[in-house]
Amino acid sequence: MSNSQNQQGSSLEQIWNEIREHNLESFVAELDSKGFTVVPPELACPDDLAGRLLKACLDVAERRNGERPDLELGTTHAGFKGHYDGLTGTVDSPFGDLMQSLIFEDQLFEKALMNPVLLTLASYLCGYSVVLSSMGCFMKGPNVSSFALHTDTPMPSPLPPHSMVCNLTYVLTDMNKENGATAFVPGSHKWCRDPEPYESNPDDNPKAVAVEAKAGSLVVWHGNTWHGAFNRTAPGLRVSIPVYLARAYVRSQEGLIGNVPQEMLDRNEPRFGWLLQQGLSYGYRSQDDAIARLGRAGDYVKAMVEYTGQQTFGSKALYD
Ligand SMILES: [Fe+2]
Repeated sequence: MSNSQNQQGSSLEQIWNEIREHNLESFVAELDSKGFTVVPPELACPDDLAGRLLKACLDVAERRNGERPDLELGTTHAGFKGHYDGLTGTVDSPFGDLMQSLIFEDQLFEKALMNPVLLTLASYLCGYSVVLSSMGCFMKGPNVSSFALHTDTPMPSPLPPHSMVCNLTYVLTDMNKENGATAFVPGSHKWCRDPEPYESNPDDNPKAVAVEAKAGSLVVWHGNTWHGAFNRTAPGLRVSIPVYLARAYVRSQEGLIGNVPQEMLDRNEPRFGWLLQQGLSYGYRSQDDAIARLGRAGDYVKAMVEYTGQQTFGSKALYD
């Protein structure tokens, strides 16, 4: 968002200006018609952002798991059971190793969140008041379990037609069916419901397609779009960073309110603090805590009013 755009116009005019500024018109059209789109590396990841993010993810995996991931053959992650073995009920993890809470691991992840192309599409889907729900990394080697189709909207069906949440995933290694690609059912975002069990296996559902995306692409989808993943049959690793954002009133996966180091907030522009939930106040423990939380949140609301140029940001517009 440039300063000149901040000074005038409605949020609808602002978002359209941003879409044009970043040449995203065709991707917005595809989002509307299919429920997902693939923004190519030259738009999504200039200056080799994807290469640097891949290295940062490999570093995180090495720190957390004690060995460098085998990017070429995937031996470190073949048949990976994962941390949620008991929940998935599958032979191996359908998504490999899910490494959560990346934002605190490397300043590069802050840059990935503040990518103007990512924020433009997230704002288009969920409004300027969108916040980060979670940022993690899927690192998947050869496996046998596909990931069941589902929506990302965290509520029971029927689902509202607008995007309550959105997913903007950095693809850091080439994605195709053999590499264990994300599976999508085109147009399913308009059905406003989750798949029934008999519809949820991507290998059996004839409407499920594998997304094809080069490393450095940003795959973006509406919260209601049915998606999952095919198992990986090729050697090597599939590495991606799902940046999952939500409207401010939706319960987030990560609990960031009051839990972000001040120096992290100080080195970024005001929208970063808003994205990291610092303008929200729910979850107080006592009267004193409520007063403190509201005071802090109010400062971030004021900063966002100034930053966006939208006087109504702190009131009704918060829930746009
Ligand atoms: Fe999902």
